Amino acid sequence: MKIKVINGPNLNLLGSREPGVYGSATLAEIEAALEVLAQELGCKLEFFQSNHEGDLVDCIQACRDSVDGILINPAAYTHYSYAIRDAIAAVNLPVVEVHISNIHQRESFRHRSVTAPVCCGQVVGFGADSYLLGLRGLVSIISRRRKEA
Ligand code: DQA
Repeated sequence: MKIKVINGPNLNLLGSREPGVYGSATLAEIEAALEVLAQELGCKLEFFQSNHEGDLVDCIQACRDSVDGILINPAAYTHYSYAIRDAIAAVNLPVVEVHISNIHQRESFRHRSVTAPVCCGQVVGFGADSYLLGLRGLVSIISRRRKEA
């Protein structure tokens, strides 16, 4: 089982970016924790981060024939990128959306996710653990679908 982990804009700055909101873990540390969990769950991970919408769309499109599912934090694009939403809908893969912060407790523009309706599920507000919880959920969705197929 292969899963692409995609991170959107400004998440490359985790660790130093607004630590009161996003915590002190760097993206590299989050990816390392995901690798440990992936070993336990028996899946392989590939990582991608970009600050550019088109690069994220290209990456999602390329997932179509190469991975079994996507774990994504679209960051600010969550709230307004119809291009990323359409790319997720187009690839027809299980996708789980994660957010470090609880977007519902924050500014009103963050309350809406245009991407969540085309994802299988969303995990918000658990800090860096949102990624780990999201990976567990995604792997169980993929396993269940395989059994049902
Ligand atoms: C975020 C929440 C978004 O609103 C914000 O733009 C981010 C990070 C999160 O993980 O909490 O960049 O996706």
